[in-house]
Parts: sequence; structure tokens; C-alpha cells
Amino acid sequence: MEVIICDTQEAVADRVANYIKYLINKKENATLGLATGSTPIKLYKKLIELYNNNEVTFKKTTTFNLDEYYNIDGDNIQSYRYFMNKYLFNKIDIDIDKSKAHFPICLEGENPNLIGDLYEKKIINAGGIDLQILGLGSNGHIGFNEPSSSFMSKTRIKTLTQKTIDDNSRLFNKNEYQPNMAMTMGISTILNAKYIILIATGENKSDAVNRLISGAISSKNPASILQNHKNVIVILDEDASSKVNNIDYYLNAAKENKKLQEQFGYFHELK
Ligand code: F6R
Repeated sequence: MEVIICDTQEAVADRVANYIKYLINKKENATLGLATGSTPIKLYKKLIELYNNNEVTFKKTTTFNLDEYYNIDGDNIQSYRYFMNKYLFNKIDIDIDKSKAHFPICLEGENPNLIGDLYEKKIINAGGIDLQILGLGSNGHIGFNEPSSSFMSKTRIKTLTQKTIDDNSRLFNKNEYQPNMAMTMGISTILNAKYIILIATGENKSDAVNRLISGAISSKNPASILQNHKNVIVILDEDASSKVNNIDYYLNAAKENKKLQEQFGYFHELK
């Protein structure tokens, strides 16, 4: 696991956007796994800038979002499809083929098991995910894999914990319906990505970040399983990194890795 600490949230967004640019310029038809939430908004803004400067094109990119609320259709302003259109897809509209942007949408009456299986098949048919972007829940969730999620899990429906419902209530108006279930890629789906970049910013993520990097690997803390993936980069701002043990080691390793990556490139497993 590589840990990169940036001064500010803007610098985090910049760094991740440049990884994505590098990846797509290396593999034009790359498949990206994307996240919603507050954390990646600055990243998407930066990608739009790069796109407008003709530094990257998404013409041949396929995307799979991590999750979607249960029984919320794509036009609902609370849907993650709506979120992605608003913060990214509409802004690069001329270029992106929306039929290549996938979400695990499951409406009432539809069988979540079948929709989960179909999502997995679509990912496999696309050649698997080259780079998965993740945020981090304050309870250690990745996607909506809440504590106790199986490390073997695939895309499926999950009931959200009260902690996640409370954390996300800031995004809903007082009388607005807030779903308590969501479809989410499973932990095993996420671990099958060839590369993973997890982004965390803000002091409120510092405990979860510390547990992710050096806590015991346990389904009580789903993000901890990322310790076992061979190509994970955790990119933090200073606030989110404030409780990381052994921080000098990571700062030093990041400097050395940067030199090597500038010489030999990134994403060497992608052809
Ligand atoms: C969103 C997702 C979640 C969020 C996490 C952090 O698609 O999968 O795991 O990444 O809840 O959310 P924010 O960024 O809002 O703190």
C-alpha cells in the first residue's frame, strides 16, 4: 500500500486527476470504477479542467459506479446517476458515451440478486476494472460495504448502518425520503480491480484512515482488506493523515516512489 500525503484537498484532487489522465493516455479504452460523495467532487472538477484543456479524452472510457441507492431512479436528484451527470458526465458530454457509464440501479419489484449478478457480468465483459476510485466511510466502509460485509462479497443489496445514514443525512432536506438500502459492488468486486486509489480528506476521516492503514484486517473494518491488495494508493490531505502512525516512513517512501515512477511510469500492469 502506497500512502501519499498532500498539503490540501486541491492538491489531492490534482494528484488523482493526473493519475487518471496518465492511465487513460496509456490505455484509451480503460475501465474506471467511480465513487460519489463529497470527497471526489474536487477530483471531478479537475478532470473537467483537463478535458477542457484537451489533456484527456473519455471517448473510449467505460465507467462503473460503486453503488446506487435502492429504489431511486436515475432522474431522482438523490440518485448517484444524477450526481455523476451533474459533477462529471454532463460536463464532458460531447465526449463520453453514456451507454458506457454503468450503475447498479435496482427499483422496487426488481430482483436485487439478478441485478447484482448482471452488474458483475458487465464488469467482466468490459475486461474488469483497471482503476477503482474509492472514498472512505467514517465507519470504514468502502462502497456501501458496511462493517460485517464479507470480503468475498459481490455486487448486492446492503442495508445501511445508522452511522452511514446519519453521515449522509446532510445531503437530504428535512422532509426528503432518505433510503436505508443501496446496491453496492462487493468487497471482492473492488479487490478485483487492477489498481485502486482511495481518497480521504478532512479530520473526520483521520481515525478511519489510521485503521485502514495499520488496523487489524477485519470485516468490522471493511477498508482494512485493502492492505492485501497489491496495487493500492491511499491519497490523503494533511487533516486526514493526522493520525497515521509512522508518517515519516510514508512521506519518505512517497518521495522515493515518485522518482521511480517518473522514470519508469505508472500502472505497469496495464497493457
Ligand atoms: C460513494 C461511496 C461511499 C463514500 C463514503 C465517503 O459512492 O461508495 O463509500 O465514498 O461514504 O463519502 P464522503 O466522500 O461523502 O465522505
